Formats: sequence, structure tokens, C-alpha cells
Amino acid sequence: MSRYTIAPMTPHRTGAEIHGVDFSCPVDAALKHEINADFARYHVLVFRDQKLSAAQFAAAGENVFGPLLSQHHKDVRATGHPEVFEIRNTEVAPGEYRINGGSWHTDHSNHPCPPRATLLHTVTLPSYGGDTQFVNMHLAYDALTADMKRRIDGLKAIHAWESRYTPRKMRKLSDDSAMALPPPGVHPLVRVHPENGRKFLYLNPVRIDGIVGMEDGPAMTLVNELIAHATQQKFEYRHKWKMGDMLIWDDRSVMHQANGDYDMKEVRYLYRIMIEDDPKHWMAEGEKTWTAVAA
Ligand SMILES: [Fe+2]
Repeated sequence: MSRYTIAPMTPHRTGAEIHGVDFSCPVDAALKHEINADFARYHVLVFRDQKLSAAQFAAAGENVFGPLLSQHHKDVRATGHPEVFEIRNTEVAPGEYRINGGSWHTDHSNHPCPPRATLLHTVTLPSYGGDTQFVNMHLAYDALTADMKRRIDGLKAIHAWESRYTPRKMRKLSDDSAMALPPPGVHPLVRVHPENGRKFLYLNPVRIDGIVGMEDGPAMTLVNELIAHATQQKFEYRHKWKMGDMLIWDDRSVMHQANGDYDMKEVRYLYRIMIEDDPKHWMAEGEKTWTAVAA
């Protein structure tokens, strides 16, 4: 019998809402196991009614989901907590605001071993807007034609820090952050999820810069066709934030995007952490090619 209540957020089992877990208290091994099993099933979990400091949030994420991953931007860390990133709308020039993650992507896919998951926890929310959207990349793969599945089988995409074809400019890296960047990640377009065994499309419109062994023109035509397919509303869960939400998504099986559709005079502020994946899941597929491409 479950120790919490869980309710799917969509008919296609993308996203589920959980009541009855308090991450300010210790989480034992059995509860961790149950939560991680639901995570592999639903891809996005939202735990309601949490009230965590940056330190509690980082500790809970690490305890329940695994070691924390260092983040690209080293200059937006929560004070005293280097692995906690601050997501906040920021006025970068008079009347001009930066919105983190304002187009479809998955986090840090330019790494040879991208994250397993990302977590957000609310600090301050605007009075309306600022939803986060997710698309289920298992469903997107399943819905491809047999011909397209054959075409993309075995193809590997090159994930740069910033693709030449990105629909939005990346924020400039500080010198420290740029020095810490790894060589581009090279990852199969189709992967098998290590925890649920299902195939998924692994895409990232802001980072995919080409496909190994293909000319750029046909490669990006193919990638754009896959992106248009994967971002259809029928594969989507759209999260409307409530204060107290702690939300986790699987960076392998969903893409996500933020919305800057709120009053920028209001503050939208969340803590973010990321969870490392096991390098074995990625190196078996990518290790021999990424070094070759980087050279
Ligand atoms: Fe993101």
C-alpha cells in the first residue's frame, strides 16, 4: 500500500501529482524506491506543499534521486549552495528580460553524460502565467512511422553548447563557466530508457548542431521534422505552478520549456538542481564517437 497519494495529470500518463510526502523529513529506502518507480512511469512528478530552504532542497534531491550535477552557469548559485541554481526573471537592459529555458530543450545535453533529471522548487511565483510545458519523448517515438523509425535507427546527433540553428540565443557564459564546458556530447537520436526499458527520442533544438556522417542540410531537415513531430500538444503536460511545488522531470524522456507570459514586474523565482545520470547509460552508446568529433 502506497504511503502517498498519486494522481496522473494527463490521460497519456505524462506527469503525476503527489500528496503526502514531506521532504523536510527523512525519506527511507522503501519510500525512495516507490518514488523512483513512479518517476520512471510518469516522467514528471510534482510534490505539493513543500517548504524547503535551498539546503533542504539540495539534500532531499540528492538523497532521493542521486548525486547532484554541477551546472553550466557558475554565477547564479544560491548563496552558500553551489549546486543550487537560481531561476529568476532578470532585467538585463531597460525593459528587456531574460527568461531561462524559454524554448523547447532538455538540460545540459551537450555533456557526454547529461543529467538524469532536473528539479525545481518554488520560492516566489507571479500572480499568473509562467507555466512549464513538457512533451513525452516516449510517446513521440512510438508515434513515428515505421519508415521514420528505420531512417533514424543508429543515427547520432552532435549536441554543442549552442547550436548554429538554435531558436534562442544562449546566455553568455562567464570565463569560469566556459572553461568548465566539456566537449560536445554525441548521442543517439533514439535511446532506450535505462529505468523503464522504453525507447524515446533524444532531441534538443537549442543544442543539436548536426548528425554524424550527414551533410548539415539534410541532417537539420530531419532534426526539424522530428522536433515538429515531438512538440505536438497531444504529447504534452503543462504544469501550472503552485507555491510549495517541488517538481522533478526526467531529462531523457521529456523535453521542456518555460513561458515568459507573466508581468515582468512580478518575480518568478525557483531553485533548481540537477541529478547526475550513470555514465554507463551514455558511454556505451556515445563514448567512441564524441572524442572523435571533438578532435
Ligand atoms: Fe531547462
